[in-house]
Amino acid sequence: MSARLGVNIDHVATLREARGESYPSLENAAEICLNSGADQITIHLREDRRHIQDKDVPIIRRVTKEKGKLMNLEMGCDPGIIEVALMHKPDWVCLVPEKREEQTTEGGLNLIDASHFQKIKESCIRLKDSIPNLKISLFVESDLPTLEKVCELGVGLVDAVEIHTGDYAIQYIAQNNVDSFLKEFERAKKFVEERGIACHAGHGLTNESVAPLIKKGLFEEYNIGHWIISESVFLGLEKVVRNLKELFEGNERL
Ligand code: PXP
Repeated sequence: MSARLGVNIDHVATLREARGESYPSLENAAEICLNSGADQITIHLREDRRHIQDKDVPIIRRVTKEKGKLMNLEMGCDPGIIEVALMHKPDWVCLVPEKREEQTTEGGLNLIDASHFQKIKESCIRLKDSIPNLKISLFVESDLPTLEKVCELGVGLVDAVEIHTGDYAIQYIAQNNVDSFLKEFERAKKFVEERGIACHAGHGLTNESVAPLIKKGLFEEYNIGHWIISESVFLGLEKVVRNLKELFEGNERL
């Protein structure tokens, strides 16, 4: 089976919010992605609501259900946003750190700090207790101390890690050597999978930078947004998603 492709459609909402218009339609975007081979729609409800709005969440939930595909809600541990998740019951929640001033999510969760660890643990418990069959992933860096803390939370509370690939992707695009990243990703995958936790990846990926990861069969799922929406300006959303899914599936046959 090929890796799952989660398409993050936040930046369709960024365009809409930039002019306060009702277009482009998030519903259409989700339908096109799912009809073109995406396995999942990912949206990030940020505290400042800069792109995705609360009203978008039930729409994406309905479309993913109708298509029999997955919905992944990325969110910080903010109590108001947890309430939105409880109301609309996504298939996956990906917990991420959130700073209002950041341009995008700038790194993984800090699980080493005891108070952050506790807050993340309490959020996982609240979400799992209230949403039947919910799966939770934690957006983290690939270092061993962090992964050990993930495993301390344990199977049952955490189903997957999503490894932050942003720094890797920057180095890849700059044509620098990325061997150390690939080695660390491999080590991370082995470490968590041996402990019953799945390994996903996301952030900053393009069709070029994702290719070596796919070829190595590193991750079970990839969440890709900014590049897909950017490339769609030239090629259209359907074609970009189709081509990417073909890349995923082509390597399955290698
Ligand atoms: N995964 C996580 C946890 C994210 O926060 C984001 C950005 O919202 C993505 C994946 C997608 O990143 P990008 O838009 O850079 O592809």
